[in-house]
Amino acid sequence: MTKSHCSVVVLISGNGTNLQALIDDSTHSNYKITAVISNKPEAFGLSRAQRSGIPALTINHKDYSSRELFDHALMETIDTFNPDIIVLAGFMRILSAEFVKHYCGKILNIHPSLLPAYTGTNTHQRVLDAGEKYHGVSVHFVTEELDGGPVISQEKIKIEADDNADSLANKIHQKEHIIYPKTVSWFAAGRLHMNANRAYLDNDLLPETGIEISPL
Ligand code: GRF
Repeated sequence: MTKSHCSVVVLISGNGTNLQALIDDSTHSNYKITAVISNKPEAFGLSRAQRSGIPALTINHKDYSSRELFDHALMETIDTFNPDIIVLAGFMRILSAEFVKHYCGKILNIHPSLLPAYTGTNTHQRVLDAGEKYHGVSVHFVTEELDGGPVISQEKIKIEADDNADSLANKIHQKEHIIYPKTVSWFAAGRLHMNANRAYLDNDLLPETGIEISPL
């Protein structure tokens, strides 16, 4: 893959601040966002895409009677763009096994926790309730296990005494906007791959928690 030739399809469900970070980075990086697809017609991220001249489409999951039928329609649309990578940026749908297999090793997700800890939702409140000292964000390859695919990269923050779920969400978002473009650009440069459920950077096996981009 050469500069500007890695084609990225971004899937969203909401505000799309991570999408915006990727759009902004892509103007001077080695990947190009060729389409943005939302499962929710009201997702603000669609306007962000349109504003930047990127095709913005909705495939409403409510129009389909099963997850499999929805995922099938999603795959058909994605494939018309022939992407090198699918980037999930706040896409709030669990993907079927068929979808994950179809794009095996080509789907990235960002999750607001230091995986493998705190999979699932409501992570900010859960780390506070557990009295954790640190919180963070992870980018990982998507496999059939929810939030369970091999971790590529992480950013960590220290939890302060006056933090609450909202302040943590804000701090984590700032980190997300750094870590996601960086990790996508590694993929675009051909430096990342997944094999037997493990992540590799430059053919080196990554640790279970991936690479910490800016160590505390
Ligand atoms: C982010 O917090 C991300 O970690 C999670 O969904 C959120 C999306 O935020 N997967 P935005 O829509 O990119 O602002």
